[in-house]
Amino acid sequence: MAFNRLRRNQIIRNLVSETRLVASDLIQPYFVIEGKNKKEVIKSMPGVYRLSIDNLLKDIKETKVLDIKAILLFGIPRKKDKKGTEAYAEGGIIQKTVRAIRKEIKDIIIITDVCLCGYTPYGHCRILKKNAEVLDVDVDGTLDTLAKIAVSHAQAGADFVAPSAMMLHQVKAIRKALDKNDFVKTKIFAYSAKYASNFYAPFREALNSAPRFGDRMSYQLDFGDPSEALKRIGQDIDEGADMVMVKPALAYLDIIYRAKEKFNIPIAAYNVSGEYSAIKKLSEGDKTKEKELALEVLTSIKRAGADFIISYFGKEVGKWLMVDGV
Ligand code: PBG
Repeated sequence: MAFNRLRRNQIIRNLVSETRLVASDLIQPYFVIEGKNKKEVIKSMPGVYRLSIDNLLKDIKETKVLDIKAILLFGIPRKKDKKGTEAYAEGGIIQKTVRAIRKEIKDIIIITDVCLCGYTPYGHCRILKKNAEVLDVDVDGTLDTLAKIAVSHAQAGADFVAPSAMMLHQVKAIRKALDKNDFVKTKIFAYSAKYASNFYAPFREALNSAPRFGDRMSYQLDFGDPSEALKRIGQDIDEGADMVMVKPALAYLDIIYRAKEKFNIPIAAYNVSGEYSAIKKLSEGDKTKEKELALEVLTSIKRAGADFIISYFGKEVGKWLMVDGV
């Protein structure tokens, strides 16, 4: 009885709440690896795995039932090289994965990360000039490669490509290449306001993509600087982005808020790996605490103005909302 009254009170609270998180707000990220029946633990991200394609397909089917409409894919390539060739190879991990999903699961929106940090030995999001040991960027080579990656993802069947290299004019280069190859319907989800953040550390373990030298401060944004973020969002929209992103989310709620006020385009926020792992640590395996912390954080991101939230909690939240009704 008491339980029912509590449940009813909870439901009433939700109904009158100004901000309600729903599963379709969420985008579920996945890490894909080669092989069969693989499910590799990522130590720094408890509950997140590197999955082989067969296991990934199973997982996506479960996620879809929970009313999550979109997934974001990251691939762990067979090999890394200076040109990042696996990132655009016909038989690359993402290309194979997208084709497999398209064949077996029709109604899920596929977003693919377009970047080089996981595909090059030096772990930067760009192509570097020959023999460069410092961050000497090959601008044209990088733009060409990012465009090539995007086209190869579109060819495989991606709905959105998501350039995350923070390379100026990457959106323009990708839009042009997609149109030229008749992928006029493939959309661009730009990581426009991506801060140089300490909250990415667990992700770099997942993808084995930590920079071997230097850091990403020179191309990711400084956390003291809001204007540059808004400028970059504006530029990406002008260059043809269909959706833009602020990343990370929690330490950047003001940026999300300002972007939502200023621009007339869907704004996504990336609730990144460190934000996820922090909640896991704080809840120490207590599922109720974890749920309460995650819902508070994700609701705050929505309240700030995010139309979509990329979160490793996606599937969990879907379950909480569907099974527990909160
Ligand atoms: C870079 C990229 C990063 C993340 C997604 N794509 C960060 C980086 O290492 O610069 C981070 C996501 C997360 O922390 O969850 N291509």
